[in-house]
Amino acid sequence: MVSENVYILGIESSCDDTAAAVLCNGKILSNVVASQSIHEEYGGVVPELASRAHQQNIVPVVHQALAKANIDKSQLHAVAFTRGPGLMGSLLVGTSFAKSLAYGLGIPLIDVNHMQAHILAHYIDEEGFSKPPFPFLAMTISGGHTQIVKVNNYFDMDVIGETIDDAVGEAYDKSGKILGLGYPAGPEIDKRAALGNPKAYKFTKPKVDGLNFSFSGLKTAILYFVQRETKANPNFVTENLNDICASIQYTIIGILMDKLKLASKETGIKHIAIGGGVSANSGIRAALKSGEQKFGWSTYIPKFEFTTDNAAMIAIVGYLKYLEGDFAEQNVMASARLKI
Ligand code: KG4
Ligand code: ZN
Repeated sequence: MVSENVYILGIESSCDDTAAAVLCNGKILSNVVASQSIHEEYGGVVPELASRAHQQNIVPVVHQALAKANIDKSQLHAVAFTRGPGLMGSLLVGTSFAKSLAYGLGIPLIDVNHMQAHILAHYIDEEGFSKPPFPFLAMTISGGHTQIVKVNNYFDMDVIGETIDDAVGEAYDKSGKILGLGYPAGPEIDKRAALGNPKAYKFTKPKVDGLNFSFSGLKTAILYFVQRETKANPNFVTENLNDICASIQYTIIGILMDKLKLASKETGIKHIAIGGGVSANSGIRAALKSGEQKFGWSTYIPKFEFTTDNAAMIAIVGYLKYLEGDFAEQNVMASARLKI
């Protein structure tokens, strides 16, 4: 028997990236992202502008994904979309579009949790990347979330730790704003950190019990530090930018690694994955990898294009749900605070 090829279209619109991807049996045929530059001048995402940009982008982005995959929409088996969590106005654009397309084509509609997708991105078929076996620990680190998740199975996940205030990506972006860097600041801090001395300045790590995180104190500490130092030397930031970035990154990596070590110890699980925009960070990737030697971990680090928001991760969850026949009804609603 020849098994049929299953084509899934994934649509992501939870924040400021409009994305569409086509997967065939879990392999990527196309992965298109339109990032919205409109937010740069505001130093953060403006929700109303984001939803308007999604409205403009969604049709061309889906067209491009189908064209790059070299398939016609009539060949699709299902349409998967991000139901939440995210910005309501942004989610509504992807949700309404996916509903109409699935309805028009007479194919199943599949709702996807964005945070599960950051984790399940590890199941995209990619040469040279192995898939974590269950159970494993996943640390999802992005602009909106910071969680440690015990993944028992594809759709059986327990959040065992999370931030009580800012997300780690916010810590990067807000620190960057204090230093006069553009938005998002994570990639630039990462680049500069590689050129600086991580021990030049010391920032205290927050004391948070158990597996939870806190990042708002760090941002305040950096603000006061910069204010104090620039009083003494107005050029302090420009003269020491690489060292400041390296010291901030060193502190953040320390916070994340401490909690991961604790999570591994408490659960006895040594398969450790990371996901989300901040998992693009070279320092975090290196620190996690060093856990293989130091703690006997097996680590799973996503390909760069699957770290920040993308639709391939939505499509892979769509595929996994398609195999289980887990479809959404046409009256499914977007949910800004959807939980894992
Ligand atoms: O997952 P994502 O694209 O969107 C959310 O769901 O939030 O993550 C975006 C976040 C931003 O805060 C950005 O500064 C951060 O990921 N980021 C990085 C790096 N690349 C992106 N942070 C640190 N180092 C990086 N290389
Ligand atoms: Zn995300």
